[in-house]
Amino acid sequence: MFPKRWFPHPLKLMLLLVIVGVIQESKAASFCTKADQCALDEEIKTVGAPAPLQARYDHTRIYQVELASEEHVRIFQALELASDSCSFMGHARQPGQKLTIMVTAAKVADFDDLVHSYNVTHRVLNHNFQALIDANYREVAPEGTSPDQFDWKRYHSLEGINAWLENLAKKYPEVVTLVQLGLSTQGRPIQGVKIAFGGENRTTVFIESGIHAREWIAPATATYIIDRLVNSEDPAIQELARSQNWYIFPTVNPDGYRYTFQGDRMWRKNRALFGICRGVDLNRNFPFHWNVTGASGDPCRYDYSGPSAGSEVETQRMIEFIKDRVESERIRTFLALHSYSQMIMFPYGHSAERVDNYQDLKEIGQLAAKKIYDLSGRIYKSGSIYETIYPSAGGSKDWTHGELKIPITFSYELRGPADSEDLFILSAKEIEPTAIEAFASIKTIVEEAGKRGYYQ
Ligand SMILES: *[C@@H]1O[C@H](CO)[C@@H](O)[C@H](O)[C@H]1NC(C)=O
Ligand SMILES: *[C@@H]1O[C@H](CO)[C@@H](O)[C@H](O)[C@H]1NC(C)=O
Ligand SMILES: *[C@@H]1O[C@H](CO)[C@@H](O)[C@H](O)[C@H]1NC(C)=O
Ligand SMILES: [Zn+2]
Repeated sequence: MFPKRWFPHPLKLMLLLVIVGVIQESKAASFCTKADQCALDEEIKTVGAPAPLQARYDHTRIYQVELASEEHVRIFQALELASDSCSFMGHARQPGQKLTIMVTAAKVADFDDLVHSYNVTHRVLNHNFQALIDANYREVAPEGTSPDQFDWKRYHSLEGINAWLENLAKKYPEVVTLVQLGLSTQGRPIQGVKIAFGGENRTTVFIESGIHAREWIAPATATYIIDRLVNSEDPAIQELARSQNWYIFPTVNPDGYRYTFQGDRMWRKNRALFGICRGVDLNRNFPFHWNVTGASGDPCRYDYSGPSAGSEVETQRMIEFIKDRVESERIRTFLALHSYSQMIMFPYGHSAERVDNYQDLKEIGQLAAKKIYDLSGRIYKSGSIYETIYPSAGGSKDWTHGELKIPITFSYELRGPADSEDLFILSAKEIEPTAIEAFASIKTIVEEAGKRGYYQ
């Protein structure tokens, strides 16, 4: 490659490597990976504007439509494919279905005309989504908030959550260990904790949260669970905490979560770049009946399943971590936290096929939902994913149950209700009640599974 005289002296080579390293580091620190984005960032800096580029939803409307006929189903399937200005929450599948659609301001007149032209029953859930997002950003703890000020009355940034985890591990070194799944697509550590009070042959509970970036209530709930397991003085909670070892990862998609603060509050996927669009839906990327249903092959869609099964580094790190420990640490329970819709679901998602312990999971799920109802009056639906929400393949809990045979496997859709007007933008006032009811129901799941002999 190089002419002979170019061949570098080893010392020069080292110096060169150091320089390259420094340059790369500073590049990574500004998180601009696309040339035009970098240029824009530079421009903003030079004119002294403080805010980074952020998606806006001014006068974006949220519609709920009811599909009354096959014709309606076809129209909305076509609309989803045709229009970038309409973001669907789920897909049009069958008559009788209710569907939530976010419509940007420029498209509102056309959309309204469409629903009237075809006599589609509809309701406007929100007239200006940006107002909700603005209010939500005001509920975020300021940058540099000390870990001692961490709470469940506000939302916290990735940095805030990680600092709190580190602090907790420092404070309780015999009980809390900082653990890493590895690095994300953009090189961020995927941080979590192991909570273990000691004792022989404990079974282990693994809690995954934040795989979908915009579902902020999930990391907030996960940190609440960590806090209660470590700090509760309630003897019943202490007994629960000591009955298992716990791995809890509040944000398994750190790049996406960070992007919901910096770029787009409605971002869902990871941040891998594919041509003109970014992101794989990590909860469609797991290698178990991958991509057979409820996923897209288009990187510009919100449920892109990726170029192949298990293609994403976040997915791979989770798979390796759990596989390595499922037997040695006896992982018998796997829980995943999402929002919204208020559901407690078990596998499968890819088909109506029933898992071997369907009856147990059904009963345990119902008891968990009843626990929540008794506590707060909130109604959570329980059932298999396929029956409860919509068919989808490549989810983490289908993989942990189907491939690794982890018997007790649930995923939560936390608050708000399925017809929520706020979608993923849950007010911070709801963090505590949501986390309290979720934690109580997790206690029910673990106790019921114990009674049925799953942890022997
Ligand atoms: C419009 O839909 C409603 C409710 O589905 C129905 O009662 C009504 O007959 C429909 N009107 C037309 C003109 O199709
Ligand atoms: C723990 O497991 C090991 C290996 O399976 C077994 O020999 C030992 O008796 C167990 N200890 C307890 C307290 O159950
Ligand atoms: C995944 O499924 C979608 C929808 O059926 C399809 O268009 C796409 O090609 C599939 N992806 C791959 C890599 O096979
Ligand atoms: Zn989700």
